[in-house]
Amino acid sequence: MSIDISKYKNAIVLNHPLITHKITQLRDKATKTNQFRLLVKEVTILEGYEALRHLPTYNVAIETPVEPTVQPVVNRKALCFVPILRAGLGMADGMAELVPGATFGHIGLYRDEVTHQPVEYYCKLPQNISEKDVYLIDPMLATGGSAIDSVKMLKAHGAQKITFICIIAAPEGVKAFCETYPDIPLYIGALDRCLNEDAYICPGLGDCGDRTFGTVVVEK
Ligand code: PRP
Ligand code: URA
Repeated sequence: MSIDISKYKNAIVLNHPLITHKITQLRDKATKTNQFRLLVKEVTILEGYEALRHLPTYNVAIETPVEPTVQPVVNRKALCFVPILRAGLGMADGMAELVPGATFGHIGLYRDEVTHQPVEYYCKLPQNISEKDVYLIDPMLATGGSAIDSVKMLKAHGAQKITFICIIAAPEGVKAFCETYPDIPLYIGALDRCLNEDAYICPGLGDCGDRTFGTVVVEK
């Protein structure tokens, strides 16, 4: 039976033609590493623009050529971007482009090839994470295990306000994530059909970490 994700109010599928166009290029196995990395960055900027809509701001006094005025600027120190290693690193550049002064944390997880369960190997976060708006980034939401574990780690370190941004999601991962964390906004660039027997997203884009870093050559 197919999964209807419309009941998960925290799941936001962006469905924007510019995002979809670039994701189509990402999916294409003929897209080579350099181009792939650039596209991940560009998609992240487009998605980030939407996901950062509620960024914290504060007012500063400035002078326009016409008169003095008080205007809002982004409170970049109140932000923390957290890529899930490895593939999330591909999105980190895009987020840094949007908010250059933001802080970064890193979570290291990989999926066990047989069980598909996430295995943790690294976690380094800013000390005052509890005071920051945290944006967890990972291109792929497949079973949801990695994202769910990462949020658990963030919460264990005191993070209070968390948003998750991914590029491609499977309905199975959206269901698992939203049922575990109904209050955490989940931004999705494209919602795909399903997982296959190896827990890869279909049609997906293959192994995102390998394609980002050229670990495995997909096509000569
Ligand atoms: C990929 C991806 C996610 C995870 C998603 O990472 O970047 O972290 O799989 O799958 P899940 O939703 O079923 O947990 P992977 O485990 O391949 O590690 P890598 O980025 O280091 O290659
Ligand atoms: N991780 C990936 O990189 N791709 C998938 O399709 C699923 C998990």
